[in-house]
Amino acid sequence: MADIESLLREKRVFKPDPAFAKQANWGPKKLAELRRLAARSPERFWERMAKEYVSWFRPWKKALDWKPPFAKWFVGAQTNVSYNCIDRHLEGEHAWRRNKAAIIWEGEPGDSRVLTFADLHREVCKFANVLLAQGVKKGDRVAIYMPMIPEIAIAMLACTRIGAPHTVVFGGFSADALRDRIVDLGAKLVVTADGGWRRGKIVELKDAVDEAVAGTKGVERVIVVRRTGEPVPMKAGRDLWWHDVMAQAPATRPAAKLDAEHPLFVLYTSGSTGKPKGILHTTGGYLTHVAATTHAIFDLKESDTFWCTADVGWVTGHSYVLYGPLANGATTVMYEGAPNHPGLDRFWAIIEKYRVSVLYTAPTAIRTFIRWGDEHPNRHDLSSLRLLGTVGEPINPEAWMWYHRVIGKKRCPIVDTWWQTETGGVLVSPLPGAVATKPGSCTLPFPGVEPRVVNVAGEPTKPGQGGFLTLQKPWPGMLRGIWGDAARYREQYWSRYPKVYFTGDGAQCDEDGYFWVMGRVDDVMNVSGHRIGTMEVESALVSHPGVAEAAVVGRPDEITGTAIVAFVTPKSGTHANATLRETLRSHVSREIGALARPAEVRFTDALPKTRSGKIMRRLLRDVASGKETVQDTTTLEDLSVLARLRGQEEA
Ligand code: WTA
Repeated sequence: MADIESLLREKRVFKPDPAFAKQANWGPKKLAELRRLAARSPERFWERMAKEYVSWFRPWKKALDWKPPFAKWFVGAQTNVSYNCIDRHLEGEHAWRRNKAAIIWEGEPGDSRVLTFADLHREVCKFANVLLAQGVKKGDRVAIYMPMIPEIAIAMLACTRIGAPHTVVFGGFSADALRDRIVDLGAKLVVTADGGWRRGKIVELKDAVDEAVAGTKGVERVIVVRRTGEPVPMKAGRDLWWHDVMAQAPATRPAAKLDAEHPLFVLYTSGSTGKPKGILHTTGGYLTHVAATTHAIFDLKESDTFWCTADVGWVTGHSYVLYGPLANGATTVMYEGAPNHPGLDRFWAIIEKYRVSVLYTAPTAIRTFIRWGDEHPNRHDLSSLRLLGTVGEPINPEAWMWYHRVIGKKRCPIVDTWWQTETGGVLVSPLPGAVATKPGSCTLPFPGVEPRVVNVAGEPTKPGQGGFLTLQKPWPGMLRGIWGDAARYREQYWSRYPKVYFTGDGAQCDEDGYFWVMGRVDDVMNVSGHRIGTMEVESALVSHPGVAEAAVVGRPDEITGTAIVAFVTPKSGTHANATLRETLRSHVSREIGALARPAEVRFTDALPKTRSGKIMRRLLRDVASGKETVQDTTTLEDLSVLARLRGQEEA
């Protein structure tokens, strides 16, 4: 892998507003003090976070046990995530939060529900009892494949209450993708719904579950929430309605006292092979990390209404729709549907309706809103907003400026937060009352975190010089492994540089120590903030009978960040025409999910390869992004010519 060039230069700087700094949870003084503590000892810093932000049933004996690449945090301690997110807001000094809104939910059709902390406690206890009654024990795995409805939060929290690790599979994934995850994790029970609403249409989740579960042995029960009311087949002896089992369940269930390192959840994400990785997170460290970062970075106050627009099926939804805000006793907003239903102003209508004060969304959404036009946000009262955040991909400075101007009305600080499924919570981000921002930079590391940009040899790069983003020290929210695959865990994250975590991202660090993340440097594409492995899409394409060989690359796209371009060599006798092109796009969608559907399928009679037989991806990327002119793409492209020209250079 060659070293990376960094071209971006941005000069604008936005200092924190003194009025904001004065009221900030972490103002300049506190941040300076915590940075000093973390510089002396990251462990001491994280211990302080653990004491401040988490309630423990039993204290730890040791903050960190680090046998690279395996970390244990808060060794010997006991806690429970659902206890921290719910019960402790019903007791002691916070007992008044009992009737505070925990979840404000908006359905796409316009229906709405509010669950107070007391409501959430009752529902979570009931569902925990349901899980136990259905034979789910501590350590058993539960798969969740649901729309964004309050029951997804209830199901997840109920799992954490009894110590049954969950895996949430995003509702946009196909039956095949769901099956792979259920099988890999050995899930015993699946929670789903009769469907969910998306752009005015029903997403039929139950059909996908039936298809996924049909080919497996381990799943004993499927619990189905009635959301749309559409008739769905219920398999006798296996399927149960949520409302039936909940009606009989007792409304109390003490939270299990779990070891700090008890598995909390597994979330699958794309890597550079065809098989998604089950990223494992555990209890105490993860909770400490997400609770502390939520309070510090989103500056959450008792009176805030926090809206993270991510789907709970992604890590952002786990950490910052649910666990982080609820651990802080905050009110979190959940929205079921699409941003353009019924109109292009739905997000702004929701902000106005609930007086949302902190908004956390993705650059791809921001770019889409820019294209839709300023009239949509301008039609709504957004004066409740006081802080804005972004996550998921690099934000281009112009999109940052638009967010600042049109949504934040130049009053709201912006926190550009860098992190990954693997990191559990945010690692690099401004503290809104204490760190000056530069559009396009995620700014400075959170205390206790040590990111470093290095070259191929592992040496730190000079300011402004591009390189690979690494993390030099363990942190409490870090992944503990890949489910069932310790070898892959070592190989993927810890083999490039010894004892150092490799993020897979390219970045540069400027003279002020500010980080500028440029995007993935491995075979992972970031499409609309969603990670998709090129190999996964290639495997899906090759599984089609008409395809001999396929290579997939990303090309820059104004809205989605990256668009998927597939180069396909059809089998002899297969007609490479527009019909096949559409068939292949739908085929990928069926195999993986609509999020992986290629924007473009281009046919070629041979893929360009080096003499050793490696596909020349760099060449394909150039072709895909229009840097190489080739003939009309409706016929077969002769990429071998380009390959021969480039052969010398890449071989
Ligand atoms: C990218 C999402 C630039 C990055 C939380 C990372 C970002 C991948 C940012 C993780 C950011 C995330 N600036 N790039 N603020 N945040 N990324 O696992 O490439 O879905 O490696 O986690 O998104 O994506 P994931």
